[in-house]
Amino acid sequence: ISLKPFNTFGIDVLAKHFISIENIDALKQVISLEEYSNIFILGGGSNMLLTKDIETLVVHVNLKGISILSENEDSVLVQANAGENWHEFVLWCLEKDFGGLENLSLIPGNVGTAPIQNIGAYGIELKDTFISCEALHIATKTLKTFTKTDCKFDYRNSVFKQEEKGEFIICNVTFKLSKKNHTLHTSYGSISDELAGMNITNPTIQDISNAVIKIRQSKLPDPKKIGNSGSFFKNPVILKSAYSKLKENFQDIPGYPVSETEIKVPAGWLIEKAGFKGKQFGNYGVHKAQALVLVNYGNAKGSDILELSILIQNTIKQIFNITIEAEVNIL
Ligand code: EPU
Repeated sequence: ISLKPFNTFGIDVLAKHFISIENIDALKQVISLEEYSNIFILGGGSNMLLTKDIETLVVHVNLKGISILSENEDSVLVQANAGENWHEFVLWCLEKDFGGLENLSLIPGNVGTAPIQNIGAYGIELKDTFISCEALHIATKTLKTFTKTDCKFDYRNSVFKQEEKGEFIICNVTFKLSKKNHTLHTSYGSISDELAGMNITNPTIQDISNAVIKIRQSKLPDPKKIGNSGSFFKNPVILKSAYSKLKENFQDIPGYPVSETEIKVPAGWLIEKAGFKGKQFGNYGVHKAQALVLVNYGNAKGSDILELSILIQNTIKQIFNITIEAEVNIL
């Protein structure tokens, strides 16, 4: 079958064998099948660039369900199964006035893939409310609980992208959310401006979600209309000394300190400065409102987009002597 509906980039590659799984027992059975030496795990398909047909078995993790594990006056433990759509899960929490995920509104993808890259936006990361996740160990077919420490979360990174890459299938994720006295995060970028524009002085978590949704819709293409995987690259972290040197030639280069000695530079700025913002190459290109996002205008090949990403990386290296890494998984 074509995987086009299963990846937000909308790349049309074929899966020779495909199965959608709705419960953990079935998942255990599938990973025990001896005819497939390895399998390809597919979640929301929102952080991948497919560059060729998949020869092995594609397992679509479609475990559904959200439940409250426990609660007290102040907080609640909510568990969501891996196949739940992330944004629908956030809306479910907002409906119940559970706080903590509102800044992560409208991020494409599923609950089960969110921990892999520790999704983050507008001053919050998944790790801030994450308690644990249960994952199926493919080699032993047993469930293992990962605590926050086990996950080794970092900027767009976790143990599931590093030493345990490909070893586990995340089945559910548990979050601790607030029921009252919500901690609001409004200082990132334009959230406060957006709220002011909405004439809101005492925002609720629902207001923050609405502000985030507005900002995202103005900058990021809707994958249902234009294929994309969000930020294609990570924002690079460079030494302060290198940053100061760049500042001599590029006075307006933005940078955010991340440690005593390091500065994070927005890759979107570098790509825009290098002249790629809004550039279209046939049926693919660089998004016009946010240079960090590569887009498929329809029927582009994954390999074309991969080539464009390499051209961008090489150009950035030449101009700024900065290496930018892909955030998206290239397969
Ligand atoms: N900028 C430009 N030109 C552009 C884009 C950005 O100059 O075309 C500069 C501007 O200076 C702007 C700054 O970059 O002020 C930051 O831009 P923005 O707030 O849009 O955030 P970002 O650093 O480009 C990151 C995440 C996004 C997340 C936003 C908001 C990464 C790789 N990306 O982007 O995450 O939504 O912050 O928190 O960290 C994703 O991971 O898929 C994603 C969309």
